[in-house]
Amino acid sequence: MTQNKEPAFGCFYFVCIIALTVGSIIQFSDEAEFAIDMSRKRLTHVPKDLPSRTEILDLSQNDIADLRMSDISFLSGLKVLRLSHNRIESLDFNVFKFNQDLEYLDVSHNWLQNISCYPVVSFRHLDLSFNPFHALPMCKEFGNLTQLNFLGLSTTKFQQLDLLPIAHLHLNYLLLDLAGYYVKEMEVESLQILNTKTLHLVFHPNSLFSVKVNMSVNTLGCLQLSNIKLNDDNCQLFTKFLLELTRVPSLLNFTLNHMETTWQCLIRFFQFLWPRSVEYLNIYNLTITESIDEGYFTYSKTALKALSIEHITNQVFLFSQTTLYTVFSEMNIMRLTISDTPFIHMLCPRVPSTFRFLNFTQNVFTDSVFQNCSTLIRLETLILKKNGLKNLFKVGLMTKNMLSLETLDVSWNSLDSNMYEGICSWAETIAVLNLSSNVLTDSVFRCLPPRVKVLDLHNNRIKSIPKGIMKLETLQELNVASNSLTDLPGCGAFSSLSVLVIDHNSVSHPSADFFQTCQKISSIAAGNNPFRCTCELREFVKKIGQVSREVVEGWPDSYKCDYPDSSKGTPLQDFHMSPLSCNTVLLTVTIGVTMLVLAATVAFLCLYFDLPWYLRMLYQWTQTRRRARNIPLEELQRNLQFHAFVSYSEYDSAWVKNELVPFLEKEDIKICLHERNFVPGKSIVENIINFIEKSHKSIFVLSPHFVQSEWCHYELYFAHHNLFHEGSDNLILILLEPIPQDIIPSKYHKLKALMAKRTYLAWPTEKSKRGLFWANIRAAFNMKLTLVAENDETLKRPQSELAELGLKPLKHEPSSTFHPSFVSGSIHHGRKARQQVAGMAIGSKELTS
Ligand SMILES: *[C@@H]1O[C@H](CO)[C@@H](O)[C@H](O)[C@H]1NC(C)=O
Repeated sequence: MTQNKEPAFGCFYFVCIIALTVGSIIQFSDEAEFAIDMSRKRLTHVPKDLPSRTEILDLSQNDIADLRMSDISFLSGLKVLRLSHNRIESLDFNVFKFNQDLEYLDVSHNWLQNISCYPVVSFRHLDLSFNPFHALPMCKEFGNLTQLNFLGLSTTKFQQLDLLPIAHLHLNYLLLDLAGYYVKEMEVESLQILNTKTLHLVFHPNSLFSVKVNMSVNTLGCLQLSNIKLNDDNCQLFTKFLLELTRVPSLLNFTLNHMETTWQCLIRFFQFLWPRSVEYLNIYNLTITESIDEGYFTYSKTALKALSIEHITNQVFLFSQTTLYTVFSEMNIMRLTISDTPFIHMLCPRVPSTFRFLNFTQNVFTDSVFQNCSTLIRLETLILKKNGLKNLFKVGLMTKNMLSLETLDVSWNSLDSNMYEGICSWAETIAVLNLSSNVLTDSVFRCLPPRVKVLDLHNNRIKSIPKGIMKLETLQELNVASNSLTDLPGCGAFSSLSVLVIDHNSVSHPSADFFQTCQKISSIAAGNNPFRCTCELREFVKKIGQVSREVVEGWPDSYKCDYPDSSKGTPLQDFHMSPLSCNTVLLTVTIGVTMLVLAATVAFLCLYFDLPWYLRMLYQWTQTRRRARNIPLEELQRNLQFHAFVSYSEYDSAWVKNELVPFLEKEDIKICLHERNFVPGKSIVENIINFIEKSHKSIFVLSPHFVQSEWCHYELYFAHHNLFHEGSDNLILILLEPIPQDIIPSKYHKLKALMAKRTYLAWPTEKSKRGLFWANIRAAFNMKLTLVAENDETLKRPQSELAELGLKPLKHEPSSTFHPSFVSGSIHHGRKARQQVAGMAIGSKELTS
């Protein structure tokens, strides 16, 4: 049931009226607090708690059965009241007594049978249609509604003077619902309807047309009929009904919604209308029944300019296509629209045609339509959208003889440009060509009308615009959106291009010279492409920044990085790459310069600050720290009395006393100096070995003096204890002065090896380096060590060891000139002692090897 179809489909006047009426509503619906929507709430009564400021109240599609004054009287500002699709049975206009501003009342589709009159003056829109009134609901008070635009009424019968009270009003729209109208046997009723611009009559949707009323309307411009069911029998009744209505010369628009008719009756209807004043005839939803037989149609002189039929259902299956199409193809009108039909073809007019505009959207036409047709010489616009066209070459050929064709729309077909049959030929006059939503590929650019200005190729399968295509020098607008293009086209072939739409493609790094070659561009839409935000894009983004904002459509929101993943979704506007990373020459130069500076710095540091020395010292320091950490404490805590045993030559004693000892003591490192702690009465070697055993570390202050005079004392011990085996770290060698290799006696293999391995700490002559030197010393000591107190017991073990070696300890004589240092607390290694120890060392070598 579509009786309630939106009134006045396609009526020009009505569009204006709607705009007027709706316009005034929209004005206050802006202020949301005054509009209350209570539709579809299954209400049975008007709600009590409505805000009194309500201006627009929608109560449609509920179950409200009555409307009382108390329901709405407090809504003094009410302007719009919608009550359609409820169950109201009677309406007393008195209830609106206190709603002085009410101008819009819709009580259509209720159960109203009668109304009670009361003077109301403000209505502009009053809809009482689609109610089971028996007679036209009319009050003499309606005559005072001078502002009334729209009036909707229902009735089952007419009396001539029914509408007399409103005869003097100037309505814009009168809706008469005649769905319940039933035929009176005898006489033809007549009804004078005065002054409305649009008259909309709605008949019963399923009954054959049967209204016998003589209606005459002044100033009628637009006539609308809904639900007309005709067969060959009542066809004449219908044309008779129209006779009076269509007599008015002002009637220009005639619209029929839901028309069911035989072919024969349709032809008669056309024939009836042809000589009348109607200029625009629209039929929506046409059903053809029974049969389609050849009929005779005279294309007499007509005022009709445009016929539009949308959505045809054909219930006839066996018929001659020619019969059907000829009626339309020969029409002597300017504009014909036949859309959404099962028509598979349209014939070429036999004589030069008056058609300027043909719209055959959404039919099932094939490539054969209008082939070799040379009578459409005035045709300016041809729309073949949504049909079954396949061959672009044939479409071109079709237009060849359409000498006035300017606009051709063949969008939404299956057009393919690869079906070549020679050179494409088109009507030279085509300026607008719509080829969108087909399956065209790159080759389409070889088959285009030469003077096209607007070319729509969006939603096809174009991958690139081939080089060396024919020049389209007049092309101004090119739409290639939603294809698979990877770059912007240059303007070499399109020297007049001013509008380019290329969004939704695969453009990843558009060439920046686009703006140079396309000087006339005034608008480019290139958003929603998978931009690769790399160096190549910089130039393009820069160029966009230079042109004015209006030129780049959708900037910046639709332009986003797609690659690399880290910047996916970043607007191009915010995409920056440093000039350095994008310029290889610059990058190379920068890296080169940096390397040079680095090398120079390193060389400088080496030369002036002895960097290698520092590095070596640091390395040793870290090594020492690591080793100190790795040695378990228990292992260390043997019978240790000292942290370190220090041995040095008499010649270096000044340094030891002034530098080393103060430092070590400051660090709480308990040291054993041979001169201070040696036990009198024991030989030097005995003492040395004894104290080395009791010390955690042994520090040797190396210098040429030390090597020549003292080293011999230790060789034996070292040989025996293998102190220098890999990983041993009990030894700290301090190189006080450089020792030339040649002054080391050749028998001191160990020393030579140590010197070669550079495992010593060299005493730096520069003051600044000494911090690191001391740090290295400090790092060698594990200060958690607990030392045992000095006692004689601990001195015994080394003696026995010596005994094991088969050596006699040297006698220690405090007064001896040989060892005066033992008394005074400092070793003074004399020549003899040296010889003795050297002899021992030799002996020990013999023993151990
Ligand atoms: C081409 O047709 C499509 C779809 O039918 C439409 O959206 C588009 O606006 C038309 N293009 C032009 C330039 O008229």
